[in-house]
Amino acid sequence: MKYLLFIFVGLVHLLSLGSGKAIYGNGTSQRTFQEIKEEIASYGDAAKAIINLAVYGEAQNRSYERLALLVDAVGPRLSGSRSLEKAIQIMYQNLQEEGLENVHLEPVKIPHWERGEESAVMLHPRAHKMAILGLGSSIGTPPEGITAEVLVVTSFDELQRRAPEARGKIVVYNQPYVNYSSTVLYRARGAVEAARVGAVASLIRSVAPFSIYSPHTGIQEYQDGVPKIPTACITVEDAEMMSRMASRGARIVIQLKMGAKNYPDADSFNTVAEVIGSKYPEQVVLVSGHLDSWDVGQGAMDDGGGAFISWEALSLIKDLGLRPKRTLRLVLWTAEEQGGVGAFQYYQLHKANVSNYSLVMESDLGTFFPSGLQFTGSDKARAIMEEIMHLLQPINVTQVFRCGEGTDINYWIQAGVPGASLLGDLYKYFSFHHSRGDTMTVMDPQQMNVAAALWAVVSYVVADLEEMLPRS
Ligand SMILES: *[C@@H]1O[C@H](CO)[C@@H](O)[C@H](O)[C@H]1NC(C)=O
Ligand SMILES: *[C@@H]1O[C@H](CO)[C@@H](O)[C@H](O)[C@H]1NC(C)=O
Ligand SMILES: *[C@@H]1O[C@H](CO)[C@@H](O)[C@H](O)[C@H]1NC(C)=O
Ligand SMILES: *[C@@H]1O[C@H](CO)[C@@H](O)[C@H](O)[C@H]1NC(C)=O
Ligand SMILES: *[C@@H]1O[C@H](CO)[C@@H](O)[C@H](O)[C@H]1NC(C)=O
Ligand SMILES: *[C@@H]1O[C@H](CO)[C@@H](O)[C@H](O)[C@H]1NC(C)=O
Repeated sequence: MKYLLFIFVGLVHLLSLGSGKAIYGNGTSQRTFQEIKEEIASYGDAAKAIINLAVYGEAQNRSYERLALLVDAVGPRLSGSRSLEKAIQIMYQNLQEEGLENVHLEPVKIPHWERGEESAVMLHPRAHKMAILGLGSSIGTPPEGITAEVLVVTSFDELQRRAPEARGKIVVYNQPYVNYSSTVLYRARGAVEAARVGAVASLIRSVAPFSIYSPHTGIQEYQDGVPKIPTACITVEDAEMMSRMASRGARIVIQLKMGAKNYPDADSFNTVAEVIGSKYPEQVVLVSGHLDSWDVGQGAMDDGGGAFISWEALSLIKDLGLRPKRTLRLVLWTAEEQGGVGAFQYYQLHKANVSNYSLVMESDLGTFFPSGLQFTGSDKARAIMEEIMHLLQPINVTQVFRCGEGTDINYWIQAGVPGASLLGDLYKYFSFHHSRGDTMTVMDPQQMNVAAALWAVVSYVVADLEEMLPRS
């Protein structure tokens, strides 16, 4: 049944190629947009076959079940940990056993930080043990901890205005949540800004739109020439309470203990698998997600879901006996959470071939029911992506938004390659992000099916079009 369908799909494509116009290898096209539109429309049956298999057919719930199997077995996968390397080895084996092509590991040196034992106790105005999570790369405190008075601020501006009050204190940031990209600056730079004005530690309100007393960790960065001070995140609830206490004039004292430690870089790998292109094997459409996670929860959502729908995209295409003209390459990144360490290594190794990347795709904003695709590229390329997304009419996810991005594909986008990312419910995503709540319990098999179908249709069609996506 499925083979008959694909003989038919193939035939339609052969006919559509008879349109006569020359296609140049240098990326310029003589074809009209109308012709490209017709070419894309001819993928209607292929798109339906992918959707049927992923959402209603034998592959239903597969990406969810595969993910559950991995994260239940290995748990969270922090950069530098043995569980991350175990997960990479399991994935390498999974991809090989499935019969995907060119399955290999590309070595990367990655940071190794461990949080150790940690605690924060309010001593004044009342005894209160707080939930905290040290921030990635933070130093620890002395064994007896740091006991100091608190200065609560709601912004970097307020910290500057009150700089003379900060010396010798623990700075607590109670910044409001605006959106992730702007609010996360408090997590990334909070310790440096506090250290500049003489603080001895900093505690950051978790960067989350919603909280049930949940600390949300993440990476932070020290700066050369600025003293390193210990830094952790606290819950939204405790940040707001300390803010209220301070506004009433209360003197707040906290004892902070952190056993965090940075170790020498560890050995790790980006994990790669392909469906090799039939006509332009050197040309690439890249689909990706990261395999590492924070060390709490299960890293099921961030970014198990993105990694596993990317794997699923290749599986769906392989199961249907499809082989696009260009190579479809899956990359499961390592050490994304430490600032895209694996992705940087991959870019260094492969950037000489940048002219042969048609599209780079990353899913790292959750795999809940998608609202559409975020895309960065020229207007012409955007118009093509909009046509491709029409193929997803059967699941009613056809929108193309601005700003395709992701830590792991941004190097390529900056080099001029069109980039796409999956957009879903960001409120839900950042409610669980980097917290103990990031487990399989927040994942939904049917939502993952739809996300995987979208991911497979887009990557397959772009990889199979007669021409690469235009860059201008
Ligand atoms: C691409 O190749 C065609 C045919 O050789 C040529 O006419 C066109 O100028 C080239 N475009 C660029 C940007 O090099
Ligand atoms: C897929 O998951 C949904 C939701 O949990 C469930 O209702 C359905 O029976 C599952 N399908 C298969 C084939 O397991
Ligand atoms: C986030 O909020 C800032 C400040 O309001 C705004 O400038 C920026 O455009 C917002 N970013 C996104 C991605 O919405
Ligand atoms: C770059 O592309 C060429 C073919 O065009 C291929 O032989 C080579 O392996 C590629 N290099 C990398 C690092 O992918
Ligand atoms: C890109 O691919 C083409 C064939 O599709 C090949 O001729 C060319 O050498 C490749 N370029 C690079 C930089 O690998
Ligand atoms: C299709 O999606 C649009 C936009 O997301 C939504 O407004 C509409 O209700 C959906 N239609 C169906 C039938 O689900």
